[in-house]
Amino acid sequence: MKILFIGDVVGSPGRDMVTEYLPKLKQKYKPTMTIINGENAAAGRGITEKIYKGFLELGANAVTLGNHGFDNRDIFEFIEDAKYLARPANFPEATPGQGIVYVKSNQYLLAVINLQGRTFMGQDLRDPFDVVNDLVFEAREKTSLIFVDFHAETTSEKQAMGWHLDGRVTAVVGTHTHVQTADNRVLPEGTAYLTDAGMTGPYDAILGMEREAVLRRFKTQLPTRFEVPKSGRTVLSGCLITLNPDTGAATHIDRILINDDHPFYE
Ligand SMILES: [Fe+2]
Repeated sequence: MKILFIGDVVGSPGRDMVTEYLPKLKQKYKPTMTIINGENAAAGRGITEKIYKGFLELGANAVTLGNHGFDNRDIFEFIEDAKYLARPANFPEATPGQGIVYVKSNQYLLAVINLQGRTFMGQDLRDPFDVVNDLVFEAREKTSLIFVDFHAETTSEKQAMGWHLDGRVTAVVGTHTHVQTADNRVLPEGTAYLTDAGMTGPYDAILGMEREAVLRRFKTQLPTRFEVPKSGRTVLSGCLITLNPDTGAATHIDRILINDDHPFYE
């Protein structure tokens, strides 16, 4: 059994990449489940109901979020009814939405957990290591197939989460830093791990945003509004996890990267 994950989709260039390549990736790899991180899907900040539903129509089973998840106000209109949308579980308890969602495909039930790191993230959140213990306990009453999207800034916090959950979940995949790391591996107790899946959207940009504005911020330290470039080359980043559905243990994790330097082969 396989799980396909697509990393942080940024704006319309990212959504266009998903529209173009998700059907091809499904055709090639035949994943049972597909998960998309959509926290930057609406013009780089947040997500709308239309985009969320569009991802499901394209064949995603669940959508995860992160620190930008609530940046587009449309989310407050639909998150309580969005059964397959997970926001960071360690946000304050009063936050709308849920940190764990369950998706069914064929005879399989997969728990999808979204968490946010606390190091260099600028938000005062509950301890993700603690919060995930309770969620994994809850999920394992129903299924041994558990996917964790850990939206965090530092490599060390993400690695720590991988080891924290090794043998208890199918996969811990990092998001947020928008650059794919090359450390995909299956940890000794059967948890697939990747520090960051990378982003899906503008390729000749800085983490998906127009270069000029980011450079201006670095050079002047002045407040600068970042925008998603409207044209230009694009990238799709993600990973593919192969697992034993009887135990939930992963056997492989492969990176997926599609851009002009890494063309897609059918
Ligand atoms: Fe992001």
